[in-house]
Amino acid sequence: KEIFLKDYKLPDYYFDTVDLSFFLGEEKTTVCAKISVIPRVDGGAAPLVLDGVDLKLISVKINGNELKEGEFQVGPRHLILTSPPSGNFILETVTEILPHKNTSLEGLYKSSGNFCTQCEAEGFRKITFYQDRPDIMAKYTCRIEANKSLYPVLLSNGNLIEQGDLEGGNHFALWEDPFKKPCYLFALVAGQLESRDDTFTTCSGRKVALKIWTPPQDLPKTEHAMYSLKAAMKWDEDVFGREYDLDIFNIVSVPDFNMGAMENKSLNIFNSKLVLASPETATDADYAAILGVIGHEYFHNWTGNRVTCRDWFQLSLKEGLTVFRDQEFSSDMGSRTVKRIGDVSKLRTYQFPQDAGPMAHPVRPHSYIKMDNFYTVTVYEKGAEVVRMYKTLLGSQGFRKGTDLYFERHDGQAVTCEDFFAAMRDANDADFANFLLWYSQAGTPIVKVTSSYNAEARTFSLKFSQTVPPTPGQPVKEPMFIPVAAGLLDSSGKDMPLSSIYHDGKLESVTCCGQSVYTTVLRVTKGEEEFTFSDVPEKPIPSLLRGYSAPIRLQSDLTDDDLFFLLAHDSDEFNRWEAGQILARKLMLNQVVNFQKSSPLVLDPQFVHGIKCILLDSSLDKEFIAKAITLPGEGEVMDMMEVADPDAVHAVRKFIRKQLASQLKHEFLNLVKENRSTEKYVFDHTNMARRTLKNTALGYLASLEDEEITELVLHEYKTATNMTDQFSALAAIAQKPGKARDDALADFYNQWQQDYLVVNKWFALQSSSDIPGNVENLYKLLSHQAFDIKNPNKVYSLIGGFCASPVNFHAKDGSGYKFLGEIVVQLDKLNPQVASRMVSAFSRWKRYDETRQNLAKAQLEMIVSANGLSENVYEIASKSLAV
Ligand code: ARG
Ligand code: ZN
Repeated sequence: KEIFLKDYKLPDYYFDTVDLSFFLGEEKTTVCAKISVIPRVDGGAAPLVLDGVDLKLISVKINGNELKEGEFQVGPRHLILTSPPSGNFILETVTEILPHKNTSLEGLYKSSGNFCTQCEAEGFRKITFYQDRPDIMAKYTCRIEANKSLYPVLLSNGNLIEQGDLEGGNHFALWEDPFKKPCYLFALVAGQLESRDDTFTTCSGRKVALKIWTPPQDLPKTEHAMYSLKAAMKWDEDVFGREYDLDIFNIVSVPDFNMGAMENKSLNIFNSKLVLASPETATDADYAAILGVIGHEYFHNWTGNRVTCRDWFQLSLKEGLTVFRDQEFSSDMGSRTVKRIGDVSKLRTYQFPQDAGPMAHPVRPHSYIKMDNFYTVTVYEKGAEVVRMYKTLLGSQGFRKGTDLYFERHDGQAVTCEDFFAAMRDANDADFANFLLWYSQAGTPIVKVTSSYNAEARTFSLKFSQTVPPTPGQPVKEPMFIPVAAGLLDSSGKDMPLSSIYHDGKLESVTCCGQSVYTTVLRVTKGEEEFTFSDVPEKPIPSLLRGYSAPIRLQSDLTDDDLFFLLAHDSDEFNRWEAGQILARKLMLNQVVNFQKSSPLVLDPQFVHGIKCILLDSSLDKEFIAKAITLPGEGEVMDMMEVADPDAVHAVRKFIRKQLASQLKHEFLNLVKENRSTEKYVFDHTNMARRTLKNTALGYLASLEDEEITELVLHEYKTATNMTDQFSALAAIAQKPGKARDDALADFYNQWQQDYLVVNKWFALQSSSDIPGNVENLYKLLSHQAFDIKNPNKVYSLIGGFCASPVNFHAKDGSGYKFLGEIVVQLDKLNPQVASRMVSAFSRWKRYDETRQNLAKAQLEMIVSANGLSENVYEIASKSLAV
């Protein structure tokens, strides 16, 4: 059933307090719920509809009286109280659930012997009958009773107010959460866990006990998570003025989890891959991801929990904002430019294709069948870009005024995206024109810009035109409000001071308080619009969309020479990187044409020179260099083609990499030598940057057929003292099929088979390989002893990894599609959320040639006709077929 934003209605009943009791057993779990119910309007006796899925109802009482037949109806999805009393009343239900049989990992389930929960978005209805919607906010208590030796640790939200031993080897714990919350933030954990303990004293002097819970053997790997948590707590006080509000904060790490992590009030539950790290077993990328996600979930305490969403269409209200906050946090902890480059790449690689495909939806969707399908890169990452635009328009201080007002107005409430917008506007008395369209229009705006210089008038004009492409359900679009941060470079490569701009017949001064300004934010709001800079002494080179100030595709009339100039000189480091990427994309597209015509491939010497200059520029940040010499991904290039051709794009990218490696071999070798790890592993920007640059160089070198290099890469593998270096070397060796590869992979497995997180990397490295005919290996890996289709991380590594290799997933014989089709059907019976994420790989089937289209379509048709298909997979597969 499809649900629409426009159908939102206030609930007929509110819940005030909720007292839950869990009796955790091996065969079944009994849940008793006592809820105080308040009708929204006095005397209205509308039926009370409770959600409930996979629940066995044992009894239901109102004000202490058992309901009889006729006073309620139970169906597969609801419990309806047909004629509740007219005033306030107490509702009590008893239900039974089967956590050990719950493979969906939603609701209450077991993960390696421990109980845990995942309720967002609509998992609470798998625990007890409830109005499972975020605008029902109540105060909870939670009593947990279980066998003490099997489940020594019993956790829930809020404060522990009582605990004790019971007969028969059982014990109990009673938790009370003093804050009102929606049920999706409820959590329960029970099992054999130990904690790393620390404390954080907040700005007002509250001493908070911090605990990170894991199975005993993993405890040593929680040091970085604890560091990250404390850093996040401090940062949120410093940057957003947000203080933690309870005396305890728990994090639990579980190996079986559908997503990354969950911000349950004071009891965050994490996928173990986003908590556990040691230098030997986790890479720099893992360390960075842990920092970001620990921050993300912690930041939700204010943006999500204290202020929550009215309904699930508003998801980006909390997720877009919280992603923005975690991006800023990581930025402040590392390098701002490098973080920005990474985030923009992610947007281009994953969100742009979604915005141009059958699942395109606005940051605030208009409808959904299964909400879980809308935890997307659009809601999260594009949503974060929307929040970033407020900051770009208002400046840091104005933005902070806006968030302060938002928290002041809405603490304890369930609100909408307009409420956030209004707080930003009202706190600054700002004119945001048609900014709200960012929440309602899907599709990536395409902005064209042409420039002209008038030497006589000393003016420089930028003419913008924008279109927003049609998306499913939205054939016609309005022009958007696009903040374009811009600067002008003079012929020496320096920023020109900007004086004033003609726009809309008005002359607006750009300077402020007598200070020179080098970057200004142009407010593009119309289909076509011109801005003219005055007092421009020479023909400038414009640096546009600095810092990527809006989530758009920009098409400028800059020449290759202009781009090389920007690559070498722009004061905006992001745009230096961007100029290199634009050049690389152009170059790759040209060679794709050559490849398709069977003409020889060539590499422009000017490009090699540009890369070489970056490589040798010792004034540049090493991680920036690594980013700047990395070619755009295959997906990004395919995205620019009329008909995506994975074979051509792959061949071209491989060719250019190899050319660069052979022409810059000497430089790459030096980089490897100069940036080897010497001291022990340290997670900080300087050390990470050094490792990244070394390993990027190594990756290039490994593409060469060269004895000396083979030796070198093997040497790097053998002498590595941390996972970052070891895994990079392994990946370098694994680029080419052969005995060296087989041996190294076997050796690595041998060394790490006891560590499931490392084994997952080993799976992903093989599954995502571009080696021809890799699908064969996938069938073998599926039956590998370490693979388990019930564990989402293993599925993401193996199946998700495979779909990330365009040449193999889109193999012209359809073998990749067939492989995925079979898996999706199998997976759907176990875990619909994971199956639905996997089926998304098919969604852009129309982008390929006719042969591939037919093969992919056949698999999608097979999937939608499968018996007992979940709504999750149905929604993605049927929408994919509908275009
Ligand atoms: N709120 C969580 C986070 O972003 C993610 C929950 C995902 N749940 C889901 N059903 N997809 O931090
Ligand atoms: Zn989140």
